Amino acid sequence: MTKILVIGGGAMGAAFTIPCLENKNSVTITEPYSKSFIKQLSSKNKFHSGLKIKLPKKLKFKTFSKDLFKEKFDLIVIALSLPGIDFIGKKLNEFKVKLPVLVLTKGLKYEKENNKILTIPEKLKKKYNLKNVSILKGPCLAKELARKNQTNVIVANKNINIARWIGKHISTKYYLIEYSRDVVGVEVSSAIKNIYSMIIGAGQSLNASSNLFQKSLIEMKYLIKFFKGKEITIESLAGVGDLYVSAAGGRNSKMGSFLGKGYKFKVAKKKFMPNDTVEGEQLVREIAPFVLKKINKKKIPLMIKLILSILKNKKLKIN
Ligand SMILES: NC(=O)c1ccc[n+]([C@@H]2O[C@H](COP(=O)([O-])OP(=O)(O)OC[C@H]3O[C@@H](n4cnc5c(N)ncnc54)[C@H](O)[C@@H]3O)[C@@H](O)[C@H]2O)c1
Repeated sequence: MTKILVIGGGAMGAAFTIPCLENKNSVTITEPYSKSFIKQLSSKNKFHSGLKIKLPKKLKFKTFSKDLFKEKFDLIVIALSLPGIDFIGKKLNEFKVKLPVLVLTKGLKYEKENNKILTIPEKLKKKYNLKNVSILKGPCLAKELARKNQTNVIVANKNINIARWIGKHISTKYYLIEYSRDVVGVEVSSAIKNIYSMIIGAGQSLNASSNLFQKSLIEMKYLIKFFKGKEITIESLAGVGDLYVSAAGGRNSKMGSFLGKGYKFKVAKKKFMPNDTVEGEQLVREIAPFVLKKINKKKIPLMIKLILSILKNKKLKIN
C-alpha cells in the first residue's frame, strides 16, 4: 500500500485526500499553520468547513512535527497556499526529507537578491535542496473534487515516468490525470491565470469579458515563452483549462468585477471581500518588481494595467 502524506488541510489538501483514499492508498493529512483546520481534521466527525462535507473516516490526521517524518511515506503532497512554500521548504530541508514531493500550490516566487522569478519547484530545489519535485495543476474547484465530480488535471515532471507513477496512485474514475514534461509552462500558466481571471472578470458584459479572454490568452502565451516554457502549454488543462474555471467563477474574477465597476482595489477588498484571499493580488505583489523592470510592457498591456491599478490603488481602466 502506497503511503501518502498531504501537508495542508485547507480546501484543496482535504479534497485531494478523497481520490487518494479511493485509490487504496494509506493517506495521512497534517496541518502546520491553521488552528481552525487542525481542530476540524482532528475532530471525530472530520467536518471540513471549506468543503462543507465530512472527510472519510479512513483519513488519518497527524500533528505536524519532525517525528511525523519518521514514518516512511512514499509521496509528500504540498497543498499550502503560496506564502507557505518557504515555510515548508525550510522544514523539509531541516528534517532532511528526501522523499518524492508533489506540489498542488499555484504561484511564482520572486527572488529579490538577483531579481529573478522562480517556479515553485525551482525554489524548492535551489533553496531547500529537495530533489524529486513534481507538480499537479489544472482546473479544479476543491468542492467539486470533494463531491467526486469529474475533474481533469495535469501532473508534470521532466521525468515523465515519475509523473506517471504519481498519476497511477492518485487517479480514479472521476479524477483523471494527464501528463506533461513542461514543468515551467505548466507552472507559469497555472500561476498567471489568477491574474488574468481578474482581468476577464473586469469585463462588464459577456461580450466584453470574451474580448479580454482572447487578449489574455495572447499575453499568457507570451509569458510562458518568456519564462522558457512551451507555448503549446497554453492549450493544456493548466492554461486555457484553468483560466476558464477561474474566470467563470471564483474569488479572482469576483474581485475583477468590482475593479471593472470602478472600485479601487483597497475599497473593493474592504467592502466586499474582507476575509477572502485573492490569489491574483498576492501574485501581482510578488512578481510586480520583476515584471515592471524586465518584461516588454507593450507585450502584456492588460497585466501591466492590473498591476499598476493594484499597486497604486487606482481605478482600473481596461475596457
Ligand atoms: N493543483 C490544483 O489542482 C489546485 C486546485 C485548487 C487550488 N490549488 C492551490 O492549492 C493551494 C491551497 O488552496 P486551498 O483552496 O486549499 O486554500 P485554503 O485557504 O483552503 O488553504 C490554505 C492552506 O495553506 C495554509 N497556509 C496559509 N497561509 C500559510 C502560511 N503563511 N504559512 C504556512 N501555511 C499557510 C493554510 O493553513 C491551509 O493549509 C493554493 O495555492 C491554490 O491555488 C491547487
